[in-house]
Amino acid sequence: MNNFVFYAPTWFSFGRGEGKNVGALVRRFGGTKVLLVYGGGSVKKNGAFDTVTASLAQAGIPCLELGGVQPNPRSGKVYEGIDIVRREGVDFLLALGGGSTIDTAKAIGMGALYDGDFWDFFTGAAPIERTLPVGTVLTISAAGSEGSDSCVITHEKGDLKWGCPKTDVIRPKFSVLDPAYTCSLPPYQTACGAVDMIAHICERYFSNTPDVALTDRLAEALIKTVLDAAPKALADPNDYAARADLMWTGMLAHNNSCGVGRDQDWASHQIEHELSSLYDCAHGAGLAVIMPAWMTFVTDHDPLRMAQFAVRVLGCEMDFAHPERTAREGVARLRDIFRAWGMPVTLGELGTKAQDIPTLVEHRRKKPDGGFPFGGYVKIGPEEMAAILRLAE
Ligand code: NZQ
Ligand code: ZN
Repeated sequence: MNNFVFYAPTWFSFGRGEGKNVGALVRRFGGTKVLLVYGGGSVKKNGAFDTVTASLAQAGIPCLELGGVQPNPRSGKVYEGIDIVRREGVDFLLALGGGSTIDTAKAIGMGALYDGDFWDFFTGAAPIERTLPVGTVLTISAAGSEGSDSCVITHEKGDLKWGCPKTDVIRPKFSVLDPAYTCSLPPYQTACGAVDMIAHICERYFSNTPDVALTDRLAEALIKTVLDAAPKALADPNDYAARADLMWTGMLAHNNSCGVGRDQDWASHQIEHELSSLYDCAHGAGLAVIMPAWMTFVTDHDPLRMAQFAVRVLGCEMDFAHPERTAREGVARLRDIFRAWGMPVTLGELGTKAQDIPTLVEHRRKKPDGGFPFGGYVKIGPEEMAAILRLAE
């Protein structure tokens, strides 16, 4: 196990009805004037918006609104939010929604206290040193941004979907997790979220660091929980127990509890971000296509690790003479599970074409560091990225 620092100072209020405490939480963390950030309107249909605004009113906290955040959130909303915060003297950002809404609030929080362009944080031109406080009320179990140290925004100039450097500075001050809010999710978004959680864990699980037994076991438990709960939530959207398991797993999958002390990979996420920046697909759907293809590509790097995953997580039987066969069976099972959940598992099903592969690889080169190589488990250059995309055809 490697040395590590773990600092994740987010307050979590978990469970049915916790939304009514939002006003008190904003006060507790020093907010006196809120900008409420939300998406395309789901929160107005499922009651979350009414509960949260009533709670703020009860606590005597004035609230401005910034609605209309799109999935794969765009820079335009961030600039709009920064203007409102400065003009109106807002001192607290409250995100009501999923990863897109939370990341928009995080980016507004960084940008509002900075004289330059908030995008400087994403290009590396400026370090993230401070931010306005951000609280979240989560409505979809997926991205893990409610407890994470990351933020992903698409800049409209060039369709650049980039994450800012990871930093504890941007972890939310508090997150309210009421699983009942996620009961209104359509099956497709429920499945996208489940895939994203599994991917967050796999990005950590596939590591070259030795002696990581505890975090291996934590990761396996989290994925097995998703594999158990996701079909239940898909069969019955109002299954509170399943929604609750998914909600807390989504947080644990990405606050780095199971990633400490080990090198991490993140190649599948890097490739997926190119897909969702160019085709505006759901992040989880892109991962359902890329993750199994990446696993196929890297199987021979360490067949025993992949076979361990296949046996412990997916219930495959170990072929001691040929662990690579067990590994491949595990990848096939995972792909079948994603398919059974209604996810695309090929680029074609996602709506992209084979001739798009060179475009995706070239787009990656726009990153400030030239984009290549990436991936902590197996180094991925342009040819390897193209090969993984071909495996996903
Ligand atoms: O916009 P509304 O109307 O709210 O609808 C949303 C949206 O269409 C809908 N939705 C959310 N809660 C709902 C609901 N519909 C019905 N009932 C509810 N309770 O779901 C759709 C997707 O929402 P979004 O916020 O985009 O989902 P998600 O949480 O999957 O976030 C995805 C974004 O997060 C980024 C992704 O790249 C993507 O941009 N990520 C952020 C990370 C982070 N900051 O730590 C890590 C992740 O790896 C990821 O990259
Ligand atoms: Zn993700």
